[in-house]
Amino acid sequence: MNVLIIGNGGREHALAWKIKQSSRVERVFVAPGNAGTAVDAENIDISISDFDAQIKFAKQNNVGLTVIGPEVPLVAGVVDAFQAAGLKVFGPDKGASQLEGSKAFCKNILRQAEVPTAEYQAFRDADSAARYIKDRFPHEDQDVPVVVKADGLAAGKGVTVCHTAEEALIAIDQIGREKIFGDAGKTIIIEERLDGEEASVLAITDGQTIVTLTPAQDHKPAFDGDLGPNTGGMGAYCPTPLLTDSMLASIEEKVLVPTVHVLKRSRNPFKGVLYAGLMLTNQGPKVLEYNVRFGDPECQPILMRLKTDLVDILEATVDTKLIEIGPLDWDPRPAVCVVMASEGYPDSYEIGKPIRGIEEADKLDSVKVFHAGTTMQGNQVVTNGGRVLGVTAMGNSIATAKLQAYTAVKQIRWEGAWCRKDISDKALG
Ligand code: AMP
Ligand code: GLY
Repeated sequence: MNVLIIGNGGREHALAWKIKQSSRVERVFVAPGNAGTAVDAENIDISISDFDAQIKFAKQNNVGLTVIGPEVPLVAGVVDAFQAAGLKVFGPDKGASQLEGSKAFCKNILRQAEVPTAEYQAFRDADSAARYIKDRFPHEDQDVPVVVKADGLAAGKGVTVCHTAEEALIAIDQIGREKIFGDAGKTIIIEERLDGEEASVLAITDGQTIVTLTPAQDHKPAFDGDLGPNTGGMGAYCPTPLLTDSMLASIEEKVLVPTVHVLKRSRNPFKGVLYAGLMLTNQGPKVLEYNVRFGDPECQPILMRLKTDLVDILEATVDTKLIEIGPLDWDPRPAVCVVMASEGYPDSYEIGKPIRGIEEADKLDSVKVFHAGTTMQGNQVVTNGGRVLGVTAMGNSIATAKLQAYTAVKQIRWEGAWCRKDISDKALG
């Protein structure tokens, strides 16, 4: 069969690369894709948000399965549109996608499911949110351990982790008065700040069976040592030793299973990737947020280790037959993905810089360079986004995988290219 993937990032390149390896698949299309998916699959010039054109293309090109990469079309109802057209599509529908599309919805589900999470309050306007901060933290110089969030989707940028009242009030102002996230900031969430290491547990579920994937760790802050502003993710590795097998089993039992049940009971049955962003606190793991799709960049090292046919897994999910897929088969070697970014990211940056050395890096043993923000200009691969490449490698240990990933990074250059140098170090202690 033919498979269509919607999206244009590193996650979608990894999905295309993995799906192309399935013996059951003939052609893999990516809409709109990037310079990497143009090589490992076929790009089609349809935007992420043009559902009608996607559906028409799927019907005309014998597409047996469509896989939705990013959250924006999921939250906008792309799955409902494909289903209404009688097409097979992997991902949660609009109702279930609210788990990521609205932090207030997510908190409600977590509360009903009795899943450990940060205490929170929701506010309809900046005034009441600001008053809450001033009343709760009346003393100057007092630690203000809160996190201010826009309720809706904000490309990972709607969250400010605060230490002072001033930081909290600025964030409230930006969301509620300046409206820098538009309608996504209609509701302001103020949460208790949690401390600990973060980990990502991704699971695939058809609403009845839950299959947990190898646990990963993302690196959200821009700079080494977790300094600097939040980004979409500067690198990831798996499996992370921060989560032992028994902790994973307990997360399945106390987090994933009750969440899937409550979603079903609230008439939003969930099918797709359920991604729990966790803080490993002194009191045990707590859910920071749910995403309703593969994480980017977690997807890249996770799929590099996966040996089971991904198409079998995705199709079984759509058909509610996930129970028939046995335990997943993983490469025992850990994988590390280092994101190379444009100068200036996560703030403004220039695009169109010629990239050299990708082929040399790809030739290294157990290395795959996944493209994210790239495009072709004539015969030349050029930068086309903030996160440009996800250089991914496997090794016999996390340290070896890290070394191999950075050896590959050294082959690649463009004007202003940079990356964090410490991806996976938290695993090493
Ligand atoms: P979110 O988009 O909700 O995952 O938040 C993005 C990032 O903000 C998370 O990965 C954490 O690093 C941080 N964060 C979110 N909520 C909290 C919290 N309650 N306490 C501490 N850090 C948080
Ligand atoms: N890696 C974080 C995310 O995909 O949201």
